Amino acid sequence: VPVTVYASQQEASVIVAARIATLIKAKQAKGETAVLGLATGATPVKVYSELVRLHKEEGLSFSNVVTFNLDEYYPIQPTAKQSYVAFMHEHLFNHIDIAPANIHIPDGTLNKDAIHAWCLEYEQKIEKFGGLDIQLLGIGRTGHIGFNEPGSAPNSGTRLVTLEELTRRDASRDFGAKENVPSKAITMGIGTIFKAREIILMAWNKTKASIIKKAVEGDITGEVPATFLQLSSSVEFIVDEDAASELT
Ligand code: F6R
Repeated sequence: VPVTVYASQQEASVIVAARIATLIKAKQAKGETAVLGLATGATPVKVYSELVRLHKEEGLSFSNVVTFNLDEYYPIQPTAKQSYVAFMHEHLFNHIDIAPANIHIPDGTLNKDAIHAWCLEYEQKIEKFGGLDIQLLGIGRTGHIGFNEPGSAPNSGTRLVTLEELTRRDASRDFGAKENVPSKAITMGIGTIFKAREIILMAWNKTKASIIKKAVEGDITGEVPATFLQLSSSVEFIVDEDAASELT
């Protein structure tokens, strides 16, 4: 897996944002749509703030951009402040000129028996737009990408999943207590992620050093879903020095 190490999260985030901007502008020049797969959580926050800056200060337009988010808690109301709908609007969508109809985020309010059909439709919508041009990823300490926890199949699609205890503990900083974190989520699958033409996994800080080592250097196993990315020729890991500190 190609790994690029930057001195800081800030520096790396600016470079990732610039790559996204280049894609958007190249598509604009051809009258085409840029299809972005987006992640939430702490990791991409500075990428989004740089994209907002590029919009406000350098005239980058998102009028030809379509987005698909990786995941959402289940169940959750979009109005809840911990929802990924709220997160994306706060950090990105409220500050750029994207058409609301172009934003796609898994729906945390579905009835249980509607989820399967909804997930198939999510996959079909991605296909309808020609597939994901770039997929941004963070990595959880369980090795999850999206919310594909240990045990996820490499060909998995968008589906309802159960969150690991460690994932819920890490999310408790947003929900006040682990008990308040939803036990499930709707996530794109590993197979969905793999179809993206470019996959960028980002990780910052010492807390991610040991999982980055496993993801990059460990045996490929469903026990650490991010190791499946070793099988992709379209993936790049972009990390800071702390997250890279256990790599050999
Ligand atoms: C979020 C997502 C998760 C996070 C991961 C890391 O949409 O899919 O896989 O990327 O849990 O979270 P942070 O960035 O908060 O460390």
